[in-house]
Amino acid sequence: MSEITTPRDLFLHELGDILYVEEKLEQEVLPKLMDEVKSTEFRKGLEKHLRETRTHVENLEQVFELLGEEIQKEECVGFEGLKKEHDQLVEESSEDLIDLVDAGAVARTEHYEIAAYEGLITMARALGERDVIELFEKNLKDEKETLREVESLAKELTKASAKEMSEA
Ligand SMILES: [Fe+2]
Ligand SMILES: [Fe+2]
Repeated sequence: MSEITTPRDLFLHELGDILYVEEKLEQEVLPKLMDEVKSTEFRKGLEKHLRETRTHVENLEQVFELLGEEIQKEECVGFEGLKKEHDQLVEESSEDLIDLVDAGAVARTEHYEIAAYEGLITMARALGERDVIELFEKNLKDEKETLREVESLAKELTKASAKEMSEA
């Protein structure tokens, strides 16, 4: 028997999925990346997004509450895949490329989050759950901004490391 049989079931599943992602980012992934990176600017950006991520978790918990549902996380296999890919790439890459590797991982994660929130907004609208849309939109706005920031940082880092290599 399938557990997900209605659009609302699917909506709740996707909600639990992104809650899992946000909690993992808050508790494990962002602090780990902050330890890993060498650029102070990058570390500050991660720190800012960690603070935002705490709010993302709270916003999602509030969505469950507004829906009259119990908070339920769903293991997000997609995110676990991104994590695994990152860890593997860190092992394969030389030390001085770690910031670039991490910038790529953050960009991928933000794209994943953006897709999740856009999907949830579409579903909430279709299901007539309009009062939760604003909370999703708040999170989405931070993700889009973080993506823009990490993309411009990655450009700077790439230029800097290409320059170093040509001078070496
Ligand atoms: Fe987030
Ligand atoms: Fe994010």
